[in-house]
Amino acid sequence: MKMTITIAIDGPAASGKSTIAKQIAKKLNITYIDTGAMYRGVTLAILKRGIEVDNVQEIRNILNNIELDFNFVNGVQHLFLDGQDAEEEIRSIEVSQNVSAVSALDFVREKLVDLQRKMAEKQSVVMDGRDIGTVVLPKADFKFFFIASPEIRAQRRYDENIARGINTQTFEELKQDIIRRDEYDSTREHSPLKQADDAIAVDTGLLSIEENVEYVLSLIQKTN
Ligand code: DC
Repeated sequence: MKMTITIAIDGPAASGKSTIAKQIAKKLNITYIDTGAMYRGVTLAILKRGIEVDNVQEIRNILNNIELDFNFVNGVQHLFLDGQDAEEEIRSIEVSQNVSAVSALDFVREKLVDLQRKMAEKQSVVMDGRDIGTVVLPKADFKFFFIASPEIRAQRRYDENIARGINTQTFEELKQDIIRRDEYDSTREHSPLKQADDAIAVDTGLLSIEENVEYVLSLIQKTN
């Protein structure tokens, strides 16, 4: 009998994946894995060393010498880079503006996909990202693809930033950033953002966060 469950959630930037996935993980008492945080962690390691994001040789070296982990800090999951809490830094504008280029590198994806699969082998997970249902966990028990308009997504990021005391980008700048990142993530050669054939599309802009959580949980429970 299969003892673990795997739930894959994909979708573009700020489509509500992490907020909703975290709450689903909590309700089902299973582990949440934010794969975007892992790509951000690699990007931060590159920027910290002053390496250009197109310096493939150096990036290969870095990748073999960094350690990425998730640990809980005051009940909230944080990404740790080389044993240091990097949760704050991986959300910086600089990382956000460089992460698409880093995540387009095939050898970066290979390494992180391998780590992600290992994490899902030993425990039940809700994993969110861009390629979870298509590449990382093609046999996931449940697959969802979240969508929402660029305006709604930019507003969410704007509100999140204000709440976190970051107020350096205007709504319009955030919206352009999101559109640019969507375009880059959807058209890259390796594992582009796309809905798996067997994923259920959820427009998260239609409901509140709580309603989205309940809706996704109802779909999981109905088919479980
Ligand atoms: O979800 P996020 O905005 O934190 O993701 C950061 C970047 O990482 C995003 O531009 C696309 C990339 N990413 C990816 O290529 N594959 C994943 N599974 C998760 C994120």
